Amino acid sequence: MPPPSTSAPDVSRSRATDSRFRCIACGDASDTATRDFRCPHCGDLLEIVYPAWSPSPAIPGSGPAATVASELKSTWQQRRLSLDPVDLSGVWRFRELLPFVSDDAVITLREGNTPLYDLPQCARITGVPRLFAKHQGLNPTGSFKDTGMTVAATFARLAGFRWVACASTGNTSASMAAYAARGGLRSLVLVPEGKISWSKLSQSLDYGAVTCQLRTDFDGCLRLLQELVLRAPVYQLNSINPFRLEGQKTLALELLEQLDWQPPDHIIVPGGNLGNSSAIGKALLEMRALGLISRLPKLSVIQAEGANALVRTLRETGGKHLVTVQAETRATAIRIGNPASWKKAVHVLEATGGLCEQVTEIEIAQAKAEIGAEGIGCEPASAVTLAGLKKLVKSGFVKPEESAVLVLTGNLLKDPDFTMEFHRGDLFKHSVLKDSGDGDSSAALNSLRRPPIVLDATLDAVIRTLKQAEK
Ligand code: F0G
Repeated sequence: MPPPSTSAPDVSRSRATDSRFRCIACGDASDTATRDFRCPHCGDLLEIVYPAWSPSPAIPGSGPAATVASELKSTWQQRRLSLDPVDLSGVWRFRELLPFVSDDAVITLREGNTPLYDLPQCARITGVPRLFAKHQGLNPTGSFKDTGMTVAATFARLAGFRWVACASTGNTSASMAAYAARGGLRSLVLVPEGKISWSKLSQSLDYGAVTCQLRTDFDGCLRLLQELVLRAPVYQLNSINPFRLEGQKTLALELLEQLDWQPPDHIIVPGGNLGNSSAIGKALLEMRALGLISRLPKLSVIQAEGANALVRTLRETGGKHLVTVQAETRATAIRIGNPASWKKAVHVLEATGGLCEQVTEIEIAQAKAEIGAEGIGCEPASAVTLAGLKKLVKSGFVKPEESAVLVLTGNLLKDPDFTMEFHRGDLFKHSVLKDSGDGDSSAALNSLRRPPIVLDATLDAVIRTLKQAEK
């Protein structure tokens, strides 16, 4: 029988010491990272690993690993009663699985702690009765980015940087600007001019970022940022930064805790730069290795048809080489053609047995209105999950008796223009984006539209409208 110490990951003991950077391609490991968070030997991305966690997979349900897992679960549960700021954070509550930092160094806005909703109407529409939404749009700045930003901004300040910077389609910049402001850091935002929603742009202005609208797309902004961090003393906070993914990992921990550690059959997530899917997949693999869960949910990624780099990469090269695209979609958060974390995403799709699917603009608009009609709402990029689920059900990949969780990444209020144009019937009027969906689409869309009604201010007019709506 092997000695217990080799099969049981001593997570608690590893906290203070043992996270390292490791290159995802050549495996080179180091205690420090380069300024651009790329491997100095082969140039690929880094990930954070915890060598003290035993490399041999834990045997779920028995032995020392099970003890560690149940201790962790109970520690995390107990912290929900605490009033300590790090315990009130839905990210740092899981700090045994994060790189170590002392509690008083943490920059937090009480991120995480997001609800898991059931979706009865969408369940009927899709034919999957056990359907849930993990709503990351209910984070402090309205998107899932906050869970990564609390970790990465904390480490930026610890490293002694005065400036942090990111390229963004809007949510990363809003989140970075907020955490920088909370942590006494200056922030520089690079966004594509005219291609992000005003709502997101206004957040970074209010949080005090130096906000530059560049005449390029997101991919152009990111390219420039990567050069900038090598020339100027700014700390880069895009999801290339592996600390971001460690924080975003906690979405999966919190989700599984909400499900009493019973894994769903499917988790469905939107794909843009592919950091979030990589983070969730990493968490699932770590949870299984630590004995926190006994089987892996299938993690599937959904992209807009006009920004489908991962779909094409998998279909055309089997995931071996990145196929970049000139991205175009009204779901501006995922208008990305050259996703940085594509290799990490391919790995987690393969490891969990998930798929990558694409959806049309009309399918996105319809799914967004259906989620809105549940009283939940989300931004367009999040709605790809429901649109994608419909396709995965149709193809037989998701079966009616299985359970599925949609990760809603952004708040409805993030893109009011999209919502208004949809309900007014203007969304596709001037669009170069062509729909390739089925012929029923516009009837389906019309039934979901609720255009605002302008009336004379009389009781009669309002009562007439009420009667009309009853029909
Ligand atoms: N959903 C929303 C609302 C997003 O803002 C993003 C990405 C994604 C999904 C895709 O996540 O990039 O990890 O695959 N937004 C980034 C930004 C790129 O700059 O705000 P991903």
